[in-house]
Amino acid sequence: MFTRRVAVVGTGYVGLTTGACLASLGHQVVCADIDTAKVERLRRGVVDIVEPGLSEMVVEQVSAGRLSFVVGAASGVSSAFPGGSDGVDLDAEIVFLCLPTPMGVGGVADLRAVEAVVEETRELLAGGTVVVNKSTVPVGTAARTMELLDRADVSVVSNPEFLREGSAVHDFLNPDRIVVGCDTAEAAERVAALYARLGAPTVLTDAASAELLKYAANCFLAMKLSYVNAMAELCERVGADITDVTEGLGYDRRIGQAFLSPGPGWGGSCLPKDTHALLQVADAADFEFRLLRATIDTNTRQRQRIVDKVRHAVTGRRAGSLTRVRLGLLGLTFKAGTDDLRDSPALAIAALLRQAGAELVGYDPALSGAEDAPAEIDGVTLVSDPMEVAQGVEALVVLTEWPVFRTLDWVALAGVMKQPIVVDTRNLLDPATLRRAGLTGIGLGRREA
Ligand code: UGA
Repeated sequence: MFTRRVAVVGTGYVGLTTGACLASLGHQVVCADIDTAKVERLRRGVVDIVEPGLSEMVVEQVSAGRLSFVVGAASGVSSAFPGGSDGVDLDAEIVFLCLPTPMGVGGVADLRAVEAVVEETRELLAGGTVVVNKSTVPVGTAARTMELLDRADVSVVSNPEFLREGSAVHDFLNPDRIVVGCDTAEAAERVAALYARLGAPTVLTDAASAELLKYAANCFLAMKLSYVNAMAELCERVGADITDVTEGLGYDRRIGQAFLSPGPGWGGSCLPKDTHALLQVADAADFEFRLLRATIDTNTRQRQRIVDKVRHAVTGRRAGSLTRVRLGLLGLTFKAGTDDLRDSPALAIAALLRQAGAELVGYDPALSGAEDAPAEIDGVTLVSDPMEVAQGVEALVVLTEWPVFRTLDWVALAGVMKQPIVVDTRNLLDPATLRRAGLTGIGLGRREA
């Protein structure tokens, strides 16, 4: 295997995982970030993000001499690699851009970070460098990057990542596939060779197809979840049980077991952003992507549906008032295993409950109890333990699927609640355990609901 000199610009969860994992595969990696304090912390092995295995890997690769950190993209791409003849430092051969592409005006991905780095580094890149875009970017970004670079001797490759937050290292090292898109076959093959040791199926394609493929994957996942959430609603209406329905669905290998759990709606920093961005791509191509629009609308509606469920559970009436009703929220992050609150369905539902007049307290294992924990998140008073969240509430609402919620002392919690009601939007808890504790458990699409 060839060892390559790789620069990674951006040390978010994608960039840092990419840098550390490529180093673990034997490559020489320099990670660059504009945040000086963050770079200092990373040099000391302090990783800010909650990502299993990542800090250990960073420490290991730094001490093995394969991974280092520098401030600024310019330092990352040029003269940062030791080992040239006569002690001259070498430039990066492959430069990964792992930069934020947030949702901009009208759902269009905001590419300013990518553009700024291209501008900063374009004259510094050595001839023959391959620039790789790992961020999820609109179709045509590789072509646009080529234009901005304006360098005939540099290639741009689209190599989207498919990492999930909370299992990024595992996903990087065990990919379902590697996707490399470039209009120059030689550059695509060089990037694909970086991952050769992983033995994953590799899709070599053009840049536009690789860019679209990433959106296609995330939007498909979103569609699967909206379908399941809609099916859960239908189950309630016809007296069926979503757990049995999805179990039976999942045995069909064409459908698969994964991504079939109903919930409060999908969220996070990727699925909402990417569904809107693909809709924009479709609009710009004069294509009415109704299925995707319905996927998004179903998700928006899901949040209101949860609020209606809580209202009905607490007041016994569909139009009952939630004014000054105290509710305890279990879980605020967008999913379990992360401290990320970006586009969290829990917070979106909290906002709707507050609009309806409810008073909210919340507990989240990743946020509560920490020394620097805020007193309040978006109008939800954060408390430090589950007993406190249950104190005097008319219902507990489970919004994130943290496994520890399963084994809470439900008898003790029931003892301090004003009304013994648990709305479990993740179908996480065992209904029999709740019943034994004297609680009424209300799930999604469940027969007993
Ligand atoms: C998602 C994709 O799963 C990754 O493949 C992709 O690389 C990543 O976006 C990205 O584009 O960077 P992530 O945002 O970390 O990963 O989160 P997921 O695990 O996909 O969960 C997304 C949302 O769906 C969460 O709100 C989660 O709670 C929800 N979900 C997931 C369900 O409601 N039910 C399920 O069965 C699975």
